[in-house]
Amino acid sequence: MSHGRFNNPVVAALAGFKDLFRKQDFADRLKDDDRFDGKTCLVTGANSGLGFALAVEMASRGARVLCTCRRLQEETLRKIKKKSGSDNVEVRTLDLSKLDSIHAFIRGLIKDNIKIDATILNAGVALPGARKTDSGQEEMFMVNYLSNVILCTLLLNNEIIPVKEKQAEFNPRILFISSDSHQESSYIDYDEFGKYIDYGVKKGISHYSYYKLVLNTYATELSRQVNKNGVDVGVNVICPGPVHSGIIKEAPFLLRMILGAIFKVIFRSPKKAALPVVYMSISPDYEGRTNEYQHMFKPKRMDEKIYEEEEGKKLWDRSYELWHSIDDDAEDHLNRE
Ligand SMILES: NC(=O)c1ccc[n+]([C@@H]2O[C@H](COP(=O)([O-])OP(=O)(O)OC[C@H]3O[C@@H](n4cnc5c(N)ncnc54)[C@H](OP(=O)(O)O)[C@@H]3O)[C@@H](O)[C@H]2O)c1
Repeated sequence: MSHGRFNNPVVAALAGFKDLFRKQDFADRLKDDDRFDGKTCLVTGANSGLGFALAVEMASRGARVLCTCRRLQEETLRKIKKKSGSDNVEVRTLDLSKLDSIHAFIRGLIKDNIKIDATILNAGVALPGARKTDSGQEEMFMVNYLSNVILCTLLLNNEIIPVKEKQAEFNPRILFISSDSHQESSYIDYDEFGKYIDYGVKKGISHYSYYKLVLNTYATELSRQVNKNGVDVGVNVICPGPVHSGIIKEAPFLLRMILGAIFKVIFRSPKKAALPVVYMSISPDYEGRTNEYQHMFKPKRMDEKIYEEEEGKKLWDRSYELWHSIDDDAEDHLNRE
């Protein structure tokens, strides 16, 4: 049976806080003149928390920012424009728990001939209990994992992320927003992979951490698959550290009050947490680099299981099998060898 490192959300929150003080080497930092003028950035889940702060920071650094939200939010757009001082921002609808929504989003990008330089896969949920999506998966598995596989594949296959038109000074980048809580999760359990498994509030944080391990394993395999002849796409993973965001909004009342107090007093603001994410997405320091992990500004190893090639290949095959079994419009990842 699959499981993550924590069985208690309060312990998980306090562990995140402790990580802020662990001594580690630091990466170079984002510089004031690290800009993204003339380039396009996609941020999923941009109406709240980290995603909102990322959209503001990217727009203020000159990027054209495509924000996605579950529901079209003109208010979000207005606020991002105001805070960043840029009008080069747009918002599109994307509900990652719905296959139709993902396909409609991709069709829109194709129709508008959009090319994306930096893709930040930020949207995520921490659910207090299992919920079934229209396609029959557990919602946290779908939003935090499978939809990211589908989205990446469609963005790459349709050359919305233009791998073939390799740019001289900037190769496209894909950055997965993960969590260091993935460390020490169990090996991926293929007996239950993609099946709807009921769970309650106690198991929620365990599943959350485990799905982040699954996500990181996919990111690592994607990096191998798209970079067979040198680095064409920088595929990297980051944990933003503890962020005072809306991630606990679905927790039961009492737990939400306890976690809310911890978040408010000791977690970092989304604005601060966004800086290492923006750094990995645009800094020249990251040009030509792939399959790297940062925990905030600290370069780090992910859980060692993630780097096992057999694990990556198996997850890759099983994820595409699963997608084909639930979606008539499923595709295979284009092989560019
Ligand atoms: N907060 C932390 O301490 C922490 C730590 C490590 C990693 N992270 C990661 O950081 C990322 C951002 O989370 P956050 O902390 O900023 O939380 P947040 O404020 O709740 O933001 C999550 C975003 O994901 C969106 N989302 C949820 N379900 C979706 C769906 N079905 N389709 C499309 N979008 C959906 C949310 O939209 P709605 O507003 O419509 O729900 C929201 O925009 C997540 O991947 C999270 O796992 C957070």
